Amino acid sequence: MSTATITWQSPSNIALIKYWGKHGNQLPNNASLSLTLNQAATTTSLSLKKKRKKAEIEVDFTFEGEKNEKFAEKIIHYLESIKNEFPYLTANKLVIESANSFPHSAGIASSASSMSALALCILSQSMIADKKEYKPEEFYQKASYYARLGSGSAARSVFPDFSVWGKSTHIKAGNDKYAIQYPNKFNSDFNDLQDSILIVNEKEKSVSSRAGHALMNHHPMAAQRYKNAESRMKDILSALTKGDWELFCSTVETEALELHALMMTSNPSFILMKPGTLEIIERVRRFRNETKIPVCFTLDAGPNVHLIYPYFEKKQVRNFIQEELLTFCTKKKVIYDSMGNGPQLRIDE
Ligand code: PMV
Repeated sequence: MSTATITWQSPSNIALIKYWGKHGNQLPNNASLSLTLNQAATTTSLSLKKKRKKAEIEVDFTFEGEKNEKFAEKIIHYLESIKNEFPYLTANKLVIESANSFPHSAGIASSASSMSALALCILSQSMIADKKEYKPEEFYQKASYYARLGSGSAARSVFPDFSVWGKSTHIKAGNDKYAIQYPNKFNSDFNDLQDSILIVNEKEKSVSSRAGHALMNHHPMAAQRYKNAESRMKDILSALTKGDWELFCSTVETEALELHALMMTSNPSFILMKPGTLEIIERVRRFRNETKIPVCFTLDAGPNVHLIYPYFEKKQVRNFIQEELLTFCTKKKVIYDSMGNGPQLRIDE
């Protein structure tokens, strides 16, 4: 039995080209591209203890120091689905401790960071407990594959900077089974890209992501949506390579608004933006027009706004946030995040 405690800190990511709609076993209906974050992360540790009944999965799970049955159930369900590939998962009792760097109720999706952290722990522990051997590239590919089975967007969290997940005619190595690191050298303008997350509402989402993806199955605009995502992938790759901020901003904003348009026009329909979301969007566009500073917004499946801007405009944009946008944030909450280096490992023997 392994006596090592494996700990991975894995970041969240924000999609610039959105994944919305899936088929089969967590396979995306279009390719997506994301920015890996730096601050918003989940730290998960996995250690093994002896157990008597060998057949079943047994988990002792704590989230931020407390037992959490809801999360534990999800984890067991996930482990059940992959247990045949990792004999040690059933041979031992699994002690899993997890915590987020951001407040749980901040309205930030945590499935990307939490499922990628867990998948990384499972894979690292398998190298000790099941004596599996992986070269680094293979390790991250597999980590992305297993993260994807837990949550699609988690597949993109195991790489630094930008990640791409899904088949696309514009990216040769693009793959539905696992994400890859953005394959081109991006323009240095995008080094240390900033993402300030404006918390408009802290409540949990009113539509689960599983239900949300399912809305695309019979959506009248589905076919056009997947075409749009594919042509925007081309645009964003071009913008990132050339340093074309105008194309970057228009592509990112259209993607965010299309995601919400799809939710608004699905059956049942969901309007996840709040009045504060629209106020912020309007002010961001006005500020960009007036100052010519390249700052744009994107949205997850919720009301909070991610402001994306270059490092070299950090001071100006942060002043703008403080002076004009904080008033639309609940309890004046903002998380100042930026491009991140990907997950970090710690092993305690
Ligand atoms: O990974 P999931 O199943 O929670 O889906 C994520 C969907 C979006 O966050 C709305 C878009 C994306 O690509 O991350």
